[in-house]
Amino acid sequence: MVNIPKPSLLFDQWKLNPNIVHLNHGSFGGTPRFIIEKQKKYIDKLESEPVDFSVRQWYPLYYENKKALADFVGTSEHNMYLVPNTTIGINYILHNQKESNQQWLTTNHAYGACIHAFHKIGEDRGNEIIKVQIPFPLDSENEILEKLETNLSPKTSLALIDYITSATAIIFPIKKIIDLLHSKGIKVIVDAAHAPGMVDFNLDAFDADYFVANCHKWICSPKGSAFVYVNPKHQKEYKPVFYSFYNDWNADEAAHWSNQFIWEGTKDYSAYLCIKDALSYMPSLVNGGWNEIKKHNRDLAIQGAKLIANKLGVELPVPESMLGSIVNIPLWDDKIPLKFFNYYTEVKNILYDQYKIEVPCVLFPQAPKQYVRVSAQLYNSIEEYEYLGDCLLKIRNSS
Ligand SMILES: Cc1ncc(COP(=O)(O)O)c(C=O)c1O
Repeated sequence: MVNIPKPSLLFDQWKLNPNIVHLNHGSFGGTPRFIIEKQKKYIDKLESEPVDFSVRQWYPLYYENKKALADFVGTSEHNMYLVPNTTIGINYILHNQKESNQQWLTTNHAYGACIHAFHKIGEDRGNEIIKVQIPFPLDSENEILEKLETNLSPKTSLALIDYITSATAIIFPIKKIIDLLHSKGIKVIVDAAHAPGMVDFNLDAFDADYFVANCHKWICSPKGSAFVYVNPKHQKEYKPVFYSFYNDWNADEAAHWSNQFIWEGTKDYSAYLCIKDALSYMPSLVNGGWNEIKKHNRDLAIQGAKLIANKLGVELPVPESMLGSIVNIPLWDDKIPLKFFNYYTEVKNILYDQYKIEVPCVLFPQAPKQYVRVSAQLYNSIEEYEYLGDCLLKIRNSS
């Protein structure tokens, strides 16, 4: 048995296994016990009176959760609808793009599943996919803007851009990118899977064409809660991918567009119904509300990453101004793992099996170049990063 460090005093608010050091909030989030209990109550209601809950109680609850989320991200609830996750949300948007013989542009930092969907759907429509190679490490956001600009052509019609990249943990200058692409008449889909609850933004001020984000990552609502935003200028042509009831219970005309998307058939909607609770519960854990949570997590992630980088004698790969609550630290090279999925490099396996640390190792741009990506959430303590650094030193010394 190894001696693992203590997490923060807030750890018990989460259901996480205390025998593991949890430094990977970024991949799948983590939901506090209080919210999980709320979710169970909704499931109990559904199962004790399926008809009453689904027919009479569900819609006002759905609506109030969507409204609370819309207020939090800075748009009208009528510009968005809830989806189970970003992957599905991106697919929804892509299926709504009808153009052909154009160029669709994304970057080598975009999330794998979404790039895959972008290729499949774009190529099915007869479009050419351009994957802009943005360097990593990088020195400034200008490198991103310049690389994008030099890869545009008169045929570029659509771009899929990550707000906070997954494997490389960079906050992209998303407003500047949207403005640049709009100035060339290009529509922008923002994959903002990590943004709500990690960084400050105002959705309306972005004026993105489409925007998708998870609530189950940094808002800490239950898994299966996310949203799609569609700019009002595209709503008329934007249709459901699968048609369902047209739910115009709400007499307000403004709700008609988004109400086409809300009923996904019979299923457990409890994750959606806990978004509002998560939005109010999380800030109740600290004095300074969401601003304090975002600052605390970012400060801890950067402090922890620097501590590890110092131990290993390496530099962080991007300027601090481009970092949030997930941060990459360069490691030594590793070979391509047998099971090729970022989570299974040899170092990652030793960290988990031997030292009980859950943290992803990322091969980027490709093996053998390897990084470890740390996350920070309220339940983490600085001692956990110290421990990770010491374990990495031991692994490096013995390899
Ligand atoms: C940038 C980005 N996009 C999309 C996703 C996919 O999110 P989900 O699995 O909730 O669909 C992730 C997950 O980590 C991500 O980091």
